[in-house]
Amino acid sequence: MKDVLAIILAAGKSTRMHSSFSKVLHKIYGKSMLEYILDDIRSVGIRKGAVIINNYNGIGQKISLPKGFRFVFQKRLLGTGHALKQASKVLGSFKGDMLVLYGDTPLVTQETLSNLIEKHKISNATCTLLTTTMKNPSGYGRIVRDGKNNILKIVEDADASLYEKTIKEINVGVYCFKAREVFKTLTYLRPKGPKREYYLTDVVEFLKKRKATIDSICTEDGSEAIGVNSRLDLARVHTLAKNRILTRLMKEGVGIIDPSTTHIYNDVKISRDTVIYPFTVIESNVKIGKRCRIGPFARIRPDTIIGDEVEIGNYAEITRCKIGSGTAIKHRCYLGDVEIGRDVNIGAGTTTANYNGRKNGKIKIGDKALIGSGTILISPVSIGKGIKTGAGSVISKNTKMSANSVLSGTLAKIIKKTGRS
Ligand code: UD1
Ligand code: CA
Repeated sequence: MKDVLAIILAAGKSTRMHSSFSKVLHKIYGKSMLEYILDDIRSVGIRKGAVIINNYNGIGQKISLPKGFRFVFQKRLLGTGHALKQASKVLGSFKGDMLVLYGDTPLVTQETLSNLIEKHKISNATCTLLTTTMKNPSGYGRIVRDGKNNILKIVEDADASLYEKTIKEINVGVYCFKAREVFKTLTYLRPKGPKREYYLTDVVEFLKKRKATIDSICTEDGSEAIGVNSRLDLARVHTLAKNRILTRLMKEGVGIIDPSTTHIYNDVKISRDTVIYPFTVIESNVKIGKRCRIGPFARIRPDTIIGDEVEIGNYAEITRCKIGSGTAIKHRCYLGDVEIGRDVNIGAGTTTANYNGRKNGKIKIGDKALIGSGTILISPVSIGKGIKTGAGSVISKNTKMSANSVLSGTLAKIIKKTGRS
């Protein structure tokens, strides 16, 4: 697909989201909507394209585009047809096939994109649309066909007649076009609808009247088509994306006891026979080994690497940790910035005081250490191999210790006066 150009429209106002930033930057399990689309496009082999944005602040600052892609600006937001016209101003000399997608449709799959492009090339159409049928198509553009099933036009929900509103086949908003023909057509668009916008969808009727071939493929999976316009749509997309992630992990041999209460981010890697118990959240950049038991009620936060046969139990919060194989962290605790060795036992209620108000400090716990219930570890501190701490101990860099020693006790005394009462 190296010869295909991709254009993503992402300049819209996001009014219906009631958000202070662009809707395409909203994240779904650690990845923004725009990144979902960019990843899909790259995975079908497209290597050049443009993302239409309103101004550089926001999307431009937050997303780094893959090589071969560029931002194009749409300063006045006058609709999807007007957005594509901005691309034509800089890419107008391109003569091949062009995939156009909307930045708020993150669940469209790589497989569907490949099928769409393939059909477009085989039928040599000027325009190939992605459609689907929806039980409740309200809000979407409807596909109007003639008696022979040929596509005549797309009519927007706001402009549809009573009859047209009953049509269940909708426009997903993913198009494959012959770039040159469509770029030319954009000049003829006229503002329409309650918001006086230039609709990209009007291109279809225009091309049809000029006897161009309009083709389509229909995806059976309506979830691919969801366009995120509101927070409600975003919540629906979260549920669908979650099921995709969990299904993939289960197919790879990971046990998920209760998918409805388990949340695992896109890039998490988990090895076989590890079982995730209900109400567990595992965030970005986490790697978990084989035969672990995680949860119920565990939260594994970013930048954590967990070895094999590790047990992380109820109400454990773990962030930026490296945990050696065979270690057990069975009950309620908070561990941050800790490097834990192998076969360590972390008692209930263990807490790391890893932030001193200015920066995070590192904590190390050696192999086979046994950290007693309610131990507080103040960073920076290093607990040697085989050391045991008694229940309620407070351990800091000032605690004297050697390998295999048993530590116990708390030591609170005035260390300075703040001057405030
Ligand atoms: C659009 C389609 C509709 C389709 C639906 C699928 C049009 C006229 N309508 O409606 O047929 O069923 O998507 O989800 O295209 N954008 C710009 N500049 C603009 C306006 C929009 O870049 O001036 C971008 C937005 O950021 C968004 C995308 O285009 O990512 C679609 O715009 P949106 O307003 O969400 O269109 P819909 O009303 O959902
Ligand atoms: Ca939309």
